[in-house]
Amino acid sequence: DKGGYEHYMLKEIYEQPTTIEQSFKGRIAVDGKSIVLGGLIDVMPQLVKAPRIIILGCGTSWHAGLVAEYLIETYCRIPVEVEYASEFRYRTPVINKGDVIIAVSQSGETADTLAAIKKAKEDGAIIIGVCNVVGSSIPRETHAGVYTHAGVEIGVASTKAFTAQVTVLTLMAIQIAKEKGSIDQSEYEILIQEILEVPNKVRVALSKEDKIKSISDKYSDAVNALYLGRGYLFPVALEGALKLKEVSYIHAEGYAAGEMKHGPIALVDDNLPVVAVAPKDHYYEKVVSNIQEVKARKGNVIAVLNEGDLNLKEMVNDFIEIPSCHPAISPLVAVIPLQLLAYHIALNRGCDVDQPRNLAKSVTVE
Ligand code: M6R
Repeated sequence: DKGGYEHYMLKEIYEQPTTIEQSFKGRIAVDGKSIVLGGLIDVMPQLVKAPRIIILGCGTSWHAGLVAEYLIETYCRIPVEVEYASEFRYRTPVINKGDVIIAVSQSGETADTLAAIKKAKEDGAIIIGVCNVVGSSIPRETHAGVYTHAGVEIGVASTKAFTAQVTVLTLMAIQIAKEKGSIDQSEYEILIQEILEVPNKVRVALSKEDKIKSISDKYSDAVNALYLGRGYLFPVALEGALKLKEVSYIHAEGYAAGEMKHGPIALVDDNLPVVAVAPKDHYYEKVVSNIQEVKARKGNVIAVLNEGDLNLKEMVNDFIEIPSCHPAISPLVAVIPLQLLAYHIALNRGCDVDQPRNLAKSVTVE
């Protein structure tokens, strides 16, 4: 049932205020001062002491893992590696005593992720799952875990599962930090408050759909597209590019904006749309200077920026506003316009957004 929407992808994009809330509901105390992750209670001592955390996933789930890397390193001061499960399983990874593996998977059935955790388990690692489908194969292999509670996701392009994964991984990161003593109570409570405000900010981001649709009309004939972001928003740039390529078949690449000069800037000409995720965070000035570099080479910049950022609005070809939020929480809001942009461009191109060619919802074979 598409619930009155034209496609599952659109329905699932619009479900996000609710699904994000489902992911944190019952896990944040009513007074907003603490988090309880029932599924992690037994392994919390190991997480707090972990010399290293390795996050495994594929596709969008790997992107959620990258967001978690920034969170865990910032707040928990634990070294993190994020690995493609397909690479990890065939390498000879070094797993030391106490290392913790977090496997991220919507379906819980991805063959590479399943094989990777089986291997790490044999090597003695503690395995934690962050999965959406209850009772699926990956959760059955893990020692502990947290379900993402996004509900059934039918669109092949993952949308609500991604924001649910990021929500859960954010709760995990700040709770590990709290138990470890690497975050102070006030910062902890600020972050909890920010999480509680996400559903409303996502609603505001969704309200820009008409604007996004009109922008999509200008860029639907693009052959290539570049997505740029920094810090917490670098994985969001990767995710935006993946969404566009999956559903519209436009070749798109996500890049850390600072890497532009090291190659991709050679692609910039007056045919290239460059989507720059540029809210007013710590990296704002740097991203703005990357945008100027693109503009100087006649690239078309579509900026995802904060409401009221007149300076940047003047500089770019098109912009999509998002509400401002704490940088650590910003992926949850900034990804919304990128999902809608991919959706509308794909529709304009006559693509089957729910069932893109060559793709399966869950990749249960190598
Ligand atoms: O079910 P999983 O999260 O393990 O799936 C991983 C990838 O196959 C998946 O995220 C894929 O990249 C999606 N089509 C992305 O939209």
